[in-house]
Amino acid sequence: MSPSMSHVRNCGAALALVPFLLIFGCKDANNDKPPTPAQAEDPAAVHPEIWPSPKWPFEKDAALEEKVAALLKKMTVEEKVGQVVQGDIASITPAEMKKYHLGSVLNGGSSAPGNDELAPPKKWLELADEFYAASIDTSDGGVGIPMIWGTDAMHGHSNIIGSVLFPHNVGLGAARNPKLLAEIARVTAEDVRTTGFEWTFAPTVTVPQDDRWGRAYEGYSEDPGVVASYAGVFVKGLQGEPGSPDFLSGHHVISSTKHFLADGGTENGRDQGDAKVPETTLRDIHNAGYVPAIEAGVQTIMISFSSWNGVKNTGNKGLITDVLKKRMNFDGFTVGDWNAYSQIEGCTTDSCPQAINAGLDMYMAPDHWLALYENLVKQVKDKTVPMERLDDAVTRILRVKFRAGMFEAGPPSKRALAGEFKMLAAPEQRALARDAVRQTLVLLKNNGGLLPLAANKHVLVTGEGADNLSKQSGGWTITWQGTGLTNANFPGATSVWSAVKAATKAGGGSAELSTDGAYKKKPDYAIVVFGENPYAEFQGDLKVQTLPGSMNQHLDIMKKLADEKIPVVAILFSGRPLWQNRELNLAQAYVAAWLPGSEAGGITDVLFRKKDGAVNYDFTGKLSYSWPRDATGTPLNVGQEPYDPLFAFGFGMTYAAPAELAALSEDSGIPPELLSTGLFFDKGQPVQPWSLRVSNGAETTRISSVPVESAGGRVKVTAVDDQVQEDGRRFVFAGDGKATIEIVSEGTVDMAHEARGDVMLLVRLRRDADVPKDVTLGMNCGAGCSGSLPFSDTLSSVAAGKWQTIGVPLKCLRKAGVDASKVNEALVIESAGKLDLSFSQVKLGSMADKTVTCPG
Ligand code: BGC
Ligand code: BGC
Repeated sequence: MSPSMSHVRNCGAALALVPFLLIFGCKDANNDKPPTPAQAEDPAAVHPEIWPSPKWPFEKDAALEEKVAALLKKMTVEEKVGQVVQGDIASITPAEMKKYHLGSVLNGGSSAPGNDELAPPKKWLELADEFYAASIDTSDGGVGIPMIWGTDAMHGHSNIIGSVLFPHNVGLGAARNPKLLAEIARVTAEDVRTTGFEWTFAPTVTVPQDDRWGRAYEGYSEDPGVVASYAGVFVKGLQGEPGSPDFLSGHHVISSTKHFLADGGTENGRDQGDAKVPETTLRDIHNAGYVPAIEAGVQTIMISFSSWNGVKNTGNKGLITDVLKKRMNFDGFTVGDWNAYSQIEGCTTDSCPQAINAGLDMYMAPDHWLALYENLVKQVKDKTVPMERLDDAVTRILRVKFRAGMFEAGPPSKRALAGEFKMLAAPEQRALARDAVRQTLVLLKNNGGLLPLAANKHVLVTGEGADNLSKQSGGWTITWQGTGLTNANFPGATSVWSAVKAATKAGGGSAELSTDGAYKKKPDYAIVVFGENPYAEFQGDLKVQTLPGSMNQHLDIMKKLADEKIPVVAILFSGRPLWQNRELNLAQAYVAAWLPGSEAGGITDVLFRKKDGAVNYDFTGKLSYSWPRDATGTPLNVGQEPYDPLFAFGFGMTYAAPAELAALSEDSGIPPELLSTGLFFDKGQPVQPWSLRVSNGAETTRISSVPVESAGGRVKVTAVDDQVQEDGRRFVFAGDGKATIEIVSEGTVDMAHEARGDVMLLVRLRRDADVPKDVTLGMNCGAGCSGSLPFSDTLSSVAAGKWQTIGVPLKCLRKAGVDASKVNEALVIESAGKLDLSFSQVKLGSMADKTVTCPG
């Protein structure tokens, strides 16, 4: 990295910590000007002239412009508005698409044909045909414009069961290999074509500056240089070469770089948060991937949920229109993120002229598309939205559709590669993914040269991740958060366990699997696989940079193995660097494997040596994120001053240059109460800062030890067993008057951004008797603020005596009156009747056995 670049980064890093005035005192090497008065007044004002001006690779094409203009002329206001609104397949039918002339659909992370996330690829293709047919239907006298379908093919065609899964971007960053990225993009585009879609919301070109952000793994690197080296080649791999005959068609798809801008620059790494950084940091760090993407001809750019200096990007005309379109010559179209427009000041999910007026071309309005559409039609007619702006947005969308050959393409099922589902996991694709895995691994420790292992020995494979394809693949895998899956949902994939089994078999050795470190035959060495559980937006945000305390079983296993003098190879699955000093001390060898996806054979290729003792594959991966010395989560990025990582950006050991790692301090640097997030009750206890209470209105009992007669004897609380001994609490209501169970915190907790998405309050519970009619479940948000939902029917629908996870959508609670920005009681269950209810876990999440339906 050039010295001037690191100078800029120093400013950016300091920013997270200092108040605003200092921000503008932060000088910049590329643009050494004092702040202008305008800057000082409006921290979200842009200066387009200081931004780069990449070359858009298309000349003005008179023939194309003529076609677009001719079509536009024939369109009614309603048809035009239809083009700029995108619905989600879970909330729009083909008949509705036809009626309202919508120009696009998406499948969000949780949406699938027939609501079945495990639907076979054939069903997806059939649905694509249905939407296509609806879009070109002209029976009502309309023009009939082919729709385009957008999907999150984030690491392979990752929504579709059976697809090969490439490592997530955090791992690919470590490979430092643009050619590999081009190949992955090419194959992903082909896979997307098999199900008849023509658009992927990828690549993510975020430059995460705070690893606590739950989407850090979607970024290639904290370093803009690494991101820039990948963005353009990936876009070309997806879309093809601008000007070539099969650009955007044939085996190619439309790409969307995202999320513009500084999604990875938000304060404290908060998802959808606010990037409080100077304009030069936006330009030099966060914009790095957009320049090569535009030069590669990226056709769409997704605008970020997040804000810049307090202003939501989706409504920031300066950034979208003045910088991106005018200064940076982006001539494709912009698409919003999931309901993101509703977060702009003055907007709701139903109405937001502000977004299109700021330069947004297509609204992602998954579930509110109809109201938004109807309001937009009115707003165009009453000139709130100028016709020129609507025409410009539609022109941009139509241009892309023409370039993609949509008007000649025919139905999705009749296009190149459609229905070739065998490709989704073809041997060549798996081989490419396996090669990618090899290149993403970063070796952090190899004391005594334990690695590479001889394959003719007896190996124990253990830990929660040993045979766990879901953990191995992370979020945005089949389901949105990547949760709720078993190995059976990954046909043909290889876990670490199956890879080790194959490697030792081929090498004349043997292997055994156990989740808890036990073994039948004493192993020569053990491979312990552990790490983060899958997550995506919201849920992956951390307060501190470590595994939650409830996920430390591997430490016990490693200690036990150390006592038994069995050498340990540790493999971490994670979406980011974590504080791992204890694990690094306990293991002789340690590999950061990120989220490798479906082909763990790439791991054993590197871990095991050849029969003749020679190295099979050496490690080549280099850290693309700095590795922390403690767990505080203080932003740590290359180029920052001071910069004191445990392992620096670019670090990665090899067999060729052996080295020893000395014992590390085991002080995490963080207060213990910060160790939990999004979890309110677990393992029989409320989780800090929450406490459990039972009240009868007059008398309140804080529940610490059980059994106890609480609330003046009205509710008996005892311990019950769910998964382990006494991990649940049972509440038996006498039925002689109103009583409530409450999970309360002293302060308030902000769940507003979770409530805007599809996050739920998950209660793992059991009932042991008939349910009274008056049970309600709700949340409180301070004095005079609360909301609750009827809960009796849901409870009754759960078989007595059976543990089940009930999901209560936060958005329903919000509708019921909860102000999610200041929750002080995360769970309130109330009844005057004879209730017999137990729960073992209460948390935020997205996977439930049963979901409460929103009333009304
Ligand atoms: C995410 C995007 C994604 C979109 C559609 C959003 O919530 O932020 O990255 O493309 O949903 O699933
Ligand atoms: C969708 C995701 C989307 C998220 C945003 C989910 O239901 O499946 O694609 O990103 O909601 O809230």
